[in-house]
Amino acid sequence: MDALRTSVSALSPFDPDVEKNDPAGNLRKAHRITAKTATIIASYHRLREGQDPIAPRTDLSHAANFLYMLSGKEPDAEIARDFDVALVLHADHGFNASTFSARVTASTLSDMHSAITSAVGTLKGPLHGGANEAVMHMLEDIGSADKAEKYIVEKLGAKEKIPGFGHRIYKVLDPRAPYLKDMSHRLGQRGGNLQWYEMSTKIQAKVKAMKGLDANVDFYSASTYHSMNIPTDLFTPIFALSRVAGWSAHVMEQLSDNRLYRPDAEYVGPDRQEYVPLEKRG
Ligand SMILES: CC(C)(COP(=O)(O)OP(=O)(O)OC[C@H]1O[C@@H](n2cnc3c(N)ncnc32)[C@H](O)[C@@H]1OP(=O)(O)O)[C@@H](O)C(=O)NCCC(=O)NCCS
Repeated sequence: MDALRTSVSALSPFDPDVEKNDPAGNLRKAHRITAKTATIIASYHRLREGQDPIAPRTDLSHAANFLYMLSGKEPDAEIARDFDVALVLHADHGFNASTFSARVTASTLSDMHSAITSAVGTLKGPLHGGANEAVMHMLEDIGSADKAEKYIVEKLGAKEKIPGFGHRIYKVLDPRAPYLKDMSHRLGQRGGNLQWYEMSTKIQAKVKAMKGLDANVDFYSASTYHSMNIPTDLFTPIFALSRVAGWSAHVMEQLSDNRLYRPDAEYVGPDRQEYVPLEKRG
């Protein structure tokens, strides 16, 4: 996410519309940033592995192109379609934290690259997009389905949060989760390894029974991406790869009827404070 945040920002001086903040210029910038996000993530991964980056192909879809640029192999139709569905499921979701920060940045009449850079930084945190990586680390920590329930009892007993559960808006099952759950099951079966899916279903049942909380979008996306052989530290960048479409649409909507976001804050600290000169402070 650090590399992606910096790279999105660095794209701006290369964009022919850098000076434009009108709808047509912003749409062109949105298309370019959306396309280049895939290339940045895949190239970054290949470079750190000591491999050459692979140029995108014009005959592949956005989803298939990303998987191709990552592995060097054209994905089969089923995997390409599943990844496309995962991208669509993550593409936009109301005024979530990263979208809000994109809109706040746009509302100062700053530019598209700055707004998307703000959003990437906001998505990174484990309470937001970073949760999908945290889910995979938890599954690896647990190790096998028979240890899942004990692990959850211990974590909830210690008042720790379980990544991939709970949501500010959904107090029921996140409607995106069942699609990813089916995908996780099907891809696990296809690869002859259902352990991550089985562990996930045990965790889901236990957290529901103990806390009444259900899975959010991040929970089954972890085992789904793992089954696609995507490295865990790319899960959150992949969330960004999808959400960049929603972010850009929100930036354009914000600018179409702009007003500066400027929340009030109420000061509740002590009233009168005497000024103490620096040399007199202990
Ligand atoms: C998403 C999230 C930040 C929403 O937070 P929120 O709306 O502020 O809800 P709160 O953190 O106030 O939680 C309300 C209650 O549910 C509990 N809770 C919420 N999410 C929980 C989780 N993942 N595991 C365990 N308990 C959880 C809280 O501890 C709190 O319990 P309490 O009332 O007994 O203190 C929160 O659910 C969370 O941290 N989830 C894990 C991270 C995650 O998956 N994020 C991706 C979201 S798509």
